[in-house]
Amino acid sequence: MTAAIEVADVSKKFRLFRERPTSVKQRLLSARSRAEDFWALRNVSFDVLEGTSLGLIGQNGSGKTTLLKIVAGILRPTSGVVRQRGRMAALLELGAGFHPELTGRENVYLNASFLGLSRRETDRAYDAIVEFAGLEEFMDNQAKFYSSGMLVRLGFAVAVHVDPEVLLIDEVLAVGDEAFQAKCLERIRRFQREGRTIVLVTHALDTVRAICDRAVMLHQGRVHALGSPDDVVREMRYLLLGQVDEGFVPEEGTREAEIEAVDLVYPNGSTEGPLVRDDPFTIQVDVRTNEPVDDLDVDFEILDGATNHPVLDGRASRAGVTIGRFDGKRRVRFHVSSFPYTAGKYWITIGLSSRETGRLYHVQTQRYLLEVIEVPRVQERVDVPVTIEVEDL
Ligand SMILES: Nc1ncnc2c1ncn2[C@@H]1O[C@H](COP(=O)(O)OP(=O)(O)OP(=O)(O)O)[C@@H](O)[C@H]1O
Ligand SMILES: [Mg+2]
Repeated sequence: MTAAIEVADVSKKFRLFRERPTSVKQRLLSARSRAEDFWALRNVSFDVLEGTSLGLIGQNGSGKTTLLKIVAGILRPTSGVVRQRGRMAALLELGAGFHPELTGRENVYLNASFLGLSRRETDRAYDAIVEFAGLEEFMDNQAKFYSSGMLVRLGFAVAVHVDPEVLLIDEVLAVGDEAFQAKCLERIRRFQREGRTIVLVTHALDTVRAICDRAVMLHQGRVHALGSPDDVVREMRYLLLGQVDEGFVPEEGTREAEIEAVDLVYPNGSTEGPLVRDDPFTIQVDVRTNEPVDDLDVDFEILDGATNHPVLDGRASRAGVTIGRFDGKRRVRFHVSSFPYTAGKYWITIGLSSRETGRLYHVQTQRYLLEVIEVPRVQERVDVPVTIEVEDL
């Protein structure tokens, strides 16, 4: 298969001008140095094969839109090259390509001509565009009176009706209502069946997993992950883990008692992972007191890094284990008899608290990594009941 889009070692530098309140004299002295270089993209390379769909993900400001604009030819890379084959339609920023003073109808013709359609071709596609957008009554209104949802509807409708071989879509879909989003997704799937090439920028990670063949994750302008949507989305979730939750506090507590060390002990006695699925392991927590404590409770929680869901936890008091009064150090071991969850990364939270008042002495949230792998093994014979039914046809 040939590549519909080749992005080769693309970097993009923006100049940032910082405005600080300074005296005229300082301004004169420092006028030259106030411009700073900012690299929105650094050495980005990947291909999109003809007829495949690529999901482009990354946090706000990671460079997705900049990259898409470079692919669309709207921005020029500072270095590197983009090669592209086939007629391309791009749905970038909200209302980009729409003239606010022109009516919806005029904008359809204007946009279609940008995308290479003749007037007659646009005449033929016009009704289908308006119907897809669902804006029959608004086509004679000026675009400046359109809501953001209406702009997206019209933009998408034009983009999919100009018969593009390559379609670039930046996030904007999220603006439409649910029914329109479903309609767009259905159209995207039809495009895929027709063998067209799609690059989709979105924050909807499940959409990427559902419809894309491959994915690229940008982080601070660099390619952070590239490969199957499942793997790349998982990487994205690891990155988000520490940041999704506004109230995320990595470490907290009053520190009468402190977590001094946490080790994961694997079946061979080593503290080096990974763990093989279904194997046992031990979470070993060393606690140090800063003043005598007699009501200590220790707990752990394991979170699935791929889904952000807790999968396993344990607490000394719940198991009827009393840690007792102590001043100094004590070691608590949680022996997990088997870890039945799928291969991947898991994050462990450890907490010390008062079993009487619940007060937190020391909590380390999602601090320790448990990596689980699966080894192929010979499947054993088991007795699975099979029922048999016979029916006249
Ligand atoms: N014209 C510009 N001049 C200066 N900096 C810019 C310009 N355009 C983008 N940037 C910066 O480049 C970085 C990447 O921006 P970009 O819009 O590509 O991010 P994004 O991944 O699309 O983010 P989002 O998810 O919020 O849409 C940001 O730090 C942004 O401020
Ligand atoms: Mg963007």
